[in-house]
This record gives sequence, structure tokens and C-alpha cells, in this order.
Amino acid sequence: MTAASARLPRHRRPSPWSRFFPFGVAYYPEQWSDAERAADVPRLRDAGVNTVRMGEFAWDVFEPSEGHFDFALFDETIARLGEVGIRTILGTPTAAPPRWLTHAHPEILRETAAGQPIDHGGRQHGSLLHPVFRAAAERITRALAAHYADNPHIVAWQTDNELNVIGQADFSAHAGREFQRWLKNRYGRIERLNEAWGMRFSAGTYGSFDQIPLPLRNRPDGYPPHPGHLLDYRRFHSDATCDFHATQVEILRRANPRWRIFHNGLFAHLDYWKLTRPLDCLGVDLYPDFGGAGLAAVAWSAFKLELCRAHSGSFVVPELASGPGGAHAMRLETPEPGQMRLWAWQCIAHGADGIIHFRWRTCRAAVELHWHGVLGHDDVPRRRLAELTAEAHEIARLAPALRDTVADVRLAVLIDNDADEQHDASTALEPRPRAQAEHLLGALLALHLPAGLVHAHDRFDGLEVIFLPSFGHVSSTLAGKLERFVRRGGCLICTAGTGTRDLANRALATTPPGPLVDVLGATVEETGYFRSPLLHIETDDGTVVPAPLGYEILQPAPDTEIFAAWQFISPPATDRQPHPAIGRAAITARHHGRGHAFLVGAWVTATTAEPLVRWLARTCKWTSLATASAGVTIRRRVSARHALWFVLNHTLVPQRASGLPRGTDLISGRRVGPELTLPPLGVVVIRLRT
Ligand code: GAL
Repeated sequence: MTAASARLPRHRRPSPWSRFFPFGVAYYPEQWSDAERAADVPRLRDAGVNTVRMGEFAWDVFEPSEGHFDFALFDETIARLGEVGIRTILGTPTAAPPRWLTHAHPEILRETAAGQPIDHGGRQHGSLLHPVFRAAAERITRALAAHYADNPHIVAWQTDNELNVIGQADFSAHAGREFQRWLKNRYGRIERLNEAWGMRFSAGTYGSFDQIPLPLRNRPDGYPPHPGHLLDYRRFHSDATCDFHATQVEILRRANPRWRIFHNGLFAHLDYWKLTRPLDCLGVDLYPDFGGAGLAAVAWSAFKLELCRAHSGSFVVPELASGPGGAHAMRLETPEPGQMRLWAWQCIAHGADGIIHFRWRTCRAAVELHWHGVLGHDDVPRRRLAELTAEAHEIARLAPALRDTVADVRLAVLIDNDADEQHDASTALEPRPRAQAEHLLGALLALHLPAGLVHAHDRFDGLEVIFLPSFGHVSSTLAGKLERFVRRGGCLICTAGTGTRDLANRALATTPPGPLVDVLGATVEETGYFRSPLLHIETDDGTVVPAPLGYEILQPAPDTEIFAAWQFISPPATDRQPHPAIGRAAITARHHGRGHAFLVGAWVTATTAEPLVRWLARTCKWTSLATASAGVTIRRRVSARHALWFVLNHTLVPQRASGLPRGTDLISGRRVGPELTLPPLGVVVIRLRT
């Protein structure tokens, strides 16, 4: 990353490759014969592939026995591809330890909460906490880094593979001891831990750090974990994973500071803000069909892409689906003709600056033999290869225009892994901040507003609107940033449960929204839950906002405006006694010059988001990029040179879009706008010079 990039807020960082857009496929030379590998080289070149990603599962090839290295297969493959101009992204192979290692050292296996070791045969069964596994991982990373340090064909590295996709915790005795060490480091004295967690409950007090068990494992009868205990366990495991990962990055950087380094996320219980710190950018693997049918998959993909962008601005997609997928008992739908290319443009529209499809040829063995690549098992070139080839050439043609552009996001929904962990450690009932962020983002994008996700630790430069979805703990740093944002004219929207917890997950003794009371100009007088939906919110212009889970009665300060009140969903029996929330404030806003701070006394659910966002958009006069149905993605990327408007039709019928700027469609070369009709799965990229 350049020094200039490092000074920018993360959400506005441009591509780490200034003059290169990596496009290609995941390739597994260890799975193919000599003849197939040789034949693949010209075919990959002819398909327009400029980069392959490989090596991330080849530890047993690189190091067939302890300390003996063999790079011949990869040397040859990298060189042959390099000769035709195809560059290589190598993966550190630590997600799948070789059998000789786990056989000689069964103590490095992770254990489940039930105390079962996870043995050879899959992935992510090595404990990242175990010194023997760590030493072996460092040794192979060092050997690879040294061997390839001067190889001109290696452009980047992917660290490990999808950390936490499976192994999200380790309940081994060793992990237990490491957890105790981490706690001692954090709290120093056991009295501090007892106080922070609030152990004066069920005689919970600990006498020393070595008495502390692993949460979830300690109560196999299902008694709920102590919120402070579980939260710190999640933080500890995430920290250990980030530390394991940072060691690899350091080894690679030392070997060759010009290499770009990324990791492919995004999975549970891992703090990607920390994980991304030493990287050039983050990556996200995208299989849209995991998001459900039709437009659900589009919204789900947008959310995943935005999660990635929030951590690093420009990002890469190290795996993008190219065919039907699946494992033993699950299947992902076959992409429609043209859909793979549409997905690639959706990624780019959200800020991707590198696309690697999964995978070149479909595996003929093992659990992924249903996970189809560009070529089938029989290796015969067909539709998907033709589509990949067209896509490759199209992206190559537009790549110079993408250079230095970043996604233009003005309305942000904040995310933070710690806010979710904190929530999850104490409740599964109200939606976690991230689930609310997903609903809000979906509603904002459906209106084609320039919206996206931003990390709570990031700088808020360039933002006009910020949603803070029910962050229990609001640090003084975050509260200060939000207050300055509003005082400079920004619009802040907070939802139920904001500002109710401290860092260790104890409830604050102050009235919510705690540290944000001043800026929001209201307090929460009463919080209540519904067995089934009872009340909803009615705004001053008659908009009904469902709030099916419960309510907060807001008490505004004298200078705070009331915008909405609680009402019964259906008229109650005439002799029903009044509900305490009826007629009381449900949405308030304190105005600070041009800035506004809204408090919404409800959790955002799937039914809440759309009417709430529509009402806010009208009330605050937010401007959409253009008008089109929700089946159309409209996004903008900008640089000092120009703005690019991406208009993508995700449906199988033509769609109209209006209110667009007039400009040149870089795909067709024609002048377009302000209205246009997109063909099914059609893509238009309008360039406007600035
Ligand atoms: C990803 C993983 C790949 C491959 C793919 C299809 O999660 O990184 O290695 O397994 O899924 O299953």
C-alpha cells in the first residue's frame, strides 16, 4: 500500500495495484496430469486470464515430509504461465496441515466444545494457538517466501484460506491455558476481572486466573454462558487468529516488500478490522446463491461486498462462483447465462479491483466434485468458458477507466465485529447490529441511494449520513466522532439498545443512550418486549413503521423534536387499559445547526427497514442516484478524473432506469442517459468526466 493510501480512511482507499486489474481463476496444479497442465497454459491465456491463484491447499506438495521442501511442480507451473504473461497469486497453505504433521503431533488438533479432537481429512483442524502448529506454519511460510522472493511472476499472496470458515474456536486444554494467559494480560488482577464481568452472580467469583474454564465447554447442560466470559473468549480467539495471521504477513513482507498481500474472508468471530491492518486489502469469496433465491441473493451479495469494502476500501474477490456448486448434501444453483459476468460487475460496482473465479476445472475427486468450475470434469470447452473469455476481455477493456476510482458512499451504516460479539454473548432475541445493518443497507440500496457500510473505527470523511444500529457499547472515542460528525452537519440515526453496555458487556448504570444522550437529545424512559407484535410507530406524516419485537419510550429534551409516536397495530378492545407507550415518542431528533441526530426506539427488522428508510429519505431529502426497480443495482465509483455509474439489471426481463446522467457507456461505446432500458442481466457503465 502506498503511503498516500495509508493516510486515507480505509473505506476510501483505492486499489493497491495501480496499473493492474487481476482477473483469472483458482488453479490447482496438484490435481492435474502433466499433459493437462501443459494444455492449460495456452487455454488460460486465450481465455483472457491474467492471474491465477494457487497453492493454498498444497502443503503436502510443498513439504512432503518434515523440513523437506519440493517446489518443482509449482516452479514449473508458475514459469510456464509466466511465459505467456499470466501472473500468480500464491496462497500460504496453512489451512490444511499435512498428515505427517497431525499424525506426529495430535496435540495440535483443535477440539470441539464437546472435547472431541478434529482430525485429518478436511481443513482448519490445526490449532492456531498451538506452538507446534505455529512453528510448522511459520516454517512453510518462510520456506515459500524465501524460495519465491525473486520470482518475477508472483504478484501477490493470499494468507491461509478463509480463516474461521469452519474452525471458529478451539476448546482444547491448551486453548484453555492460553485463554487464561490472555485474561491475565488484559486484567492483571483477578479482582478486576471479577468486577468487569460482574461475577457476583450465582457465586461466580474466581480466585485466580487458572480457575477460569472455557465458556460453552464448561456447561454442557446448556446453561447460558456468562456474557463477559463469552465475549472475552471470542475476543481472545480472534486476537490469537489475527496474531497467527500477522506473523505470516510479516514473513512475506520481509521476503519481498513489493508483494501485495490479502486474505479471503469474511466469517464469524473474527475481527477483520484488526486482521486487515497489516494487509494491502481484504478479499471476500462470493457464491451469491448462498444468499437465497432471486433478489435476496443480490442484496446478500451487496452486503458481503460492502462488509469487505468497509475494511479496506478497494478489495479483491479471490473466489467468485462460475458454475453450479455444492458439497455432499447441498447444491448452489447454476448461474444463468450472463450471470457470472453480471456478478463480476456487481463486485466491481461495490469497489472490487480484482476478480478470481472459482475455479478453472472442476475437481474430479473429494468433497468438492459437485463444485463446478469454468470447465467440467470432462475438460471440454463449453458455454462457461466462452462466458469467462468474454468477461475477461470486457473487464480488461474497462480496467484503465477503473484505475484510482473508489466507491462513492455518502450514507453509511456502521459495523464492528465487537458490537456483534457483545450482542451475541448476551442475547439471541433482538437482531444483532450486523443483522440490522443488513436490513438497513438493503433498504437504502433499493432506493438507489449512494449507501454502503463503514467500520466504526474508520474515519467518517466524505459521509453525510450515519446509521448506528443498536451498538450496546459506544466507546468515548466513537461517541466523540459521532458528535463531531453531527456538529459538522451530518445526520446520525441510532436505534434501540444504543449506549446500554460497557466494554466488558455489563449494563451501564446510566440511562440510555448513555454516552450519546447529549447529541441525541433524548433518553429511554422504558424498554419493553412483545410476545407478538402489539404496537407500531406512526410518523407525523402518517407513515407506519413496524416494530415487531418491542419498544422504547423516548423522553425528549425540550429542544428535541418528536417525529413519531407509538400506536396500537389494530384497535384494542374498548375496555383494554392503556398501554404505557401509546402516544409517547418513538422517533426523535435533536438538531445541531445543519446536523441532525435521530433516535429510533425500535430494533430494525426485515419489516422495519424499508418504511423507516423511505420516511427518513423523504424527511431528510436524501437524493437517489437514479430511479429504477429494486432489481437494478446503481452504484458510482469516482476518481479525480471521472465518475463511473454502474447500472446492472439482475432480473431476467428488461428493466428501465431513469434520472441517470448523460454519458458514454463504456461497454457499448454509445451515448446513453438520462433514461435507458437494460436487457436481462444487462450491464451499463456510464463515464462522466469531471
Ligand atoms: C470456499 C473455499 C474454496 C472452496 C470453495 C468451494 O469457501 O475457500 O477452497 O472450498 O469454497 O467449496
